[in-house]
Amino acid sequence: MDKLFWLVLSLVLCNISANTQPGLEQELGYVPSLGDTSPGSVWPQPQSLTSTPQTYTVTVENFSFKYVASSHRCSTLDEAFKRYGMIMMSSTSRLRLKFRPKVQLKISSLEVNLLSTCQHYPSLNMNEAYTMEVGDYSLLTSESVWGILRGLETFSQLLWESETGEFVVNKTNVIDHPRYSHRGILLDTSRHFLPVRVLLENLDAMAYNKYNVFHWHIVDQQSFPYVSQAYPGLSKKGAYQANYVYTPDDVAAVVEYARLRGIRVVPEFDTPGHSLSWGLGQPGLLTPCYAGGKPTGTYGPINPTVESTYDFIRNLFTELKAVFPDKYLHLGGDEVSFNCWKSNPDITNYMKEKNITGDYAKLEEIYVQRVTEISKEVGFSYIVWQEVVDNGVKVKDDTVVEVWINNHIDKELEKVTKLGYRAILTAPWYLNMIHYREDWQYYYMYEPSAFNGTEKQKELVVGGEACMWGEYVDATNIIPRLWPRASAVAERLWSAKNINDVTKATPRLHQQRCRMLQRGINAEPLHPGYCVHERN
Ligand SMILES: *[C@@H]1O[C@H](CO)[C@@H](O)[C@H](O)[C@H]1NC(C)=O
Ligand SMILES: *[C@@H]1O[C@H](CO)[C@@H](O)[C@H](O)[C@H]1NC(C)=O
Ligand SMILES: *[C@@H]1O[C@H](CO)[C@@H](O)[C@H](O)[C@H]1NC(C)=O
Ligand SMILES: *[C@@H]1O[C@H](CO)[C@@H](O)[C@H](O)[C@H]1NC(C)=O
Repeated sequence: MDKLFWLVLSLVLCNISANTQPGLEQELGYVPSLGDTSPGSVWPQPQSLTSTPQTYTVTVENFSFKYVASSHRCSTLDEAFKRYGMIMMSSTSRLRLKFRPKVQLKISSLEVNLLSTCQHYPSLNMNEAYTMEVGDYSLLTSESVWGILRGLETFSQLLWESETGEFVVNKTNVIDHPRYSHRGILLDTSRHFLPVRVLLENLDAMAYNKYNVFHWHIVDQQSFPYVSQAYPGLSKKGAYQANYVYTPDDVAAVVEYARLRGIRVVPEFDTPGHSLSWGLGQPGLLTPCYAGGKPTGTYGPINPTVESTYDFIRNLFTELKAVFPDKYLHLGGDEVSFNCWKSNPDITNYMKEKNITGDYAKLEEIYVQRVTEISKEVGFSYIVWQEVVDNGVKVKDDTVVEVWINNHIDKELEKVTKLGYRAILTAPWYLNMIHYREDWQYYYMYEPSAFNGTEKQKELVVGGEACMWGEYVDATNIIPRLWPRASAVAERLWSAKNINDVTKATPRLHQQRCRMLQRGINAEPLHPGYCVHERN
């Protein structure tokens, strides 16, 4: 073949590749500069942060966190002091001081003032506000242990490394609180099993980004890894493998690790759909599907027409209440297919008796109402996916509705809040969907209050969650796929509404990514470039 052919071919190929570049930077009018970081910047951006060029050397080798005399004491904070001491030390241990510090001003302690008694477990209404001054005298103050934890994270991020290799911090004042109280990450441990160490690593990353809810979508169609003491058969038959399970000790370890970081663990036991794996260890629970007047051997959603279903749910939820300390249980309720119910003659008869023939949403309502009553009885408040409300099911006033369908998000939020329910938004933040571009920018710019509604309606939006569904992720790739893209959502949910400029956020987010790498979280790159401390 002649040279002209190759020349033409390569021009064509170049053109194709040029045309398939998504070109998001051009769309947004932004071109990142490669090593652009923002040392000492904080992610998510505090509500108010003022700093001056005055710097102090931080003596990380003998740094201490101390309570002021009048402060309440708290074992959760004692643990946090150790943790942040280690984070500061390990950031510096790789460095060799090239010169003796030139700066004479030193900071060797941060004083902590916890103004009220130590709370044991975080909640939806926890107070995460704090104030901090860093300078000649450095003081972190909060009404609650959770605010102190957020402030410690901020303090650790203010430290940066000077050209001479010292750790320095600018004179800074911070007044901070989150914009939304529910800031969650959903992990799915059914499509793929995730070892406990991965769950813990993710909790660390969450703490570095001030997330406060681990939404544990623990079971689903594919597998049932939760070891139930009341119904051991569920995981014996329903888990992928005998060792792909979460024992009571595992669950307790995850809950405790999260608690120490001010993170709630909200478990989801999704029913009546998404429950195939449940049926393996609990015969009689699922609806047998029929064709041509005979059972096909396949199963559909949980059978809502038999009393044994509710006995089972009551026993299981009673156990869950003892295992998970959070006030909330996620009841699922999404994507309930009515086809199997329609095929089953027993269900048809039941509906005739109840005078609801043909109204499958009503049948779902009967189920959901029973299950919510049971939740209440055992002491849980609950969250449901939006379909429960979309299907017209009447639920209790204090139900929290999670909005996930990425279509007319604003209309859905308008509807749910008009009905008076509180809402959690996830629809714009399905981070399991990936694109060849800087998709964090879209997550970052989505404004949760951008829907038609009164101020009161907007206040009913209590927060949001970034979701990482498990079809294509497991221990090998879940951390880099999630981080730092989930950091974008973290800032949207924590920081002020007007902190939404992608260009300004980019160097800080890059810094946050590099910081996570330094702390051992394998956060993937945002764009071409490098981190100063990257170890290849
Ligand atoms: C911190 O101090 C350095 C050195 O004086 C200065 O260059 C920098 O602008 C300061 N940063 C902030 C955010 O104030
Ligand atoms: C910490 O170490 C520095 C030297 O790195 C020293 O000047 C300072 O006095 C020490 N502070 C305490 C409280 O030990
Ligand atoms: C059944 O429903 C129909 C139509 O909604 C109603 O007219 C009838 O009174 C109902 N019967 C019973 C027994 O509830
Ligand atoms: C909000 O309501 C106004 C007035 O009813 C209407 O013109 C507008 O299209 C609505 N916007 C959205 C996003 O629904």
